[in-house]
Amino acid sequence: MDSTTRDPAGAKRAAGYKAAEMVKDGMVIGLGTGSTVMYTMERLSQRIKKGLAISGIPTSFQTAMRAREYGIPLTTLDDHPVIDLAIDGADEVDPQLRLIKGRGAAHTREKCVAAAAHRFIVVVDEQKMVARLDGLVPVEIVPFAIRPVMDQLQNMGCTPVLREGVKKDGPVITDNGNFIIDARFKKITKPEKLEAAIGLIPGVVESGLFCGFTHKTTVIIGGEKRCRIIP
Ligand code: 5RP
Repeated sequence: MDSTTRDPAGAKRAAGYKAAEMVKDGMVIGLGTGSTVMYTMERLSQRIKKGLAISGIPTSFQTAMRAREYGIPLTTLDDHPVIDLAIDGADEVDPQLRLIKGRGAAHTREKCVAAAAHRFIVVVDEQKMVARLDGLVPVEIVPFAIRPVMDQLQNMGCTPVLREGVKKDGPVITDNGNFIIDARFKKITKPEKLEAAIGLIPGVVESGLFCGFTHKTTVIIGGEKRCRIIP
């Protein structure tokens, strides 16, 4: 067991805080979703109290709510279609810095914000680093098309499962009013091709595969004593 598995929250905090240190005065930043980014916002809040002037674009209702609690000024992609950087968590990161996201069903907005950013900082703990992306891909879909989308995903060789709520009966409804299908593939050999193929299914909004941002991605891997940064 390495140090990060002994204290996963500490590792996430370390990564989240490190990313917050990379934010400079005057920046507009994308605020991802999830427990690691919450630490980034915690640290940003401390820095804002000391005079840092920034604004953030939240990728979910959860992030927007927390950002308001932390006193982080918010803005939108309407006002800032191009932004300095986006900071977000991930569920898996492979050696080429391709990602799987979407555990929190926020990956559509997260992808929009990452696409708008000059630089994409991904904050994770060591457990998220994988030799190869595993087979579970969250896919946001329009409820109207659930049946044909499920059929087409199945034809692509996966087992599609409609994500159901916890403390809510029935399907998870995303912040965009859609459903999530968790598509379990036996093996993902070509993530870029899979991302493109899933995206072509009518009714699919976005998949949780993030293969198009590797050129502008920096991954911060939190540890107990120090963070590892790639590249
Ligand atoms: C939400 C996401 C999250 O960024 C991802 O699940 C990582 O979350 P955490 O930092 O809590 O491990 O993709 O849709």
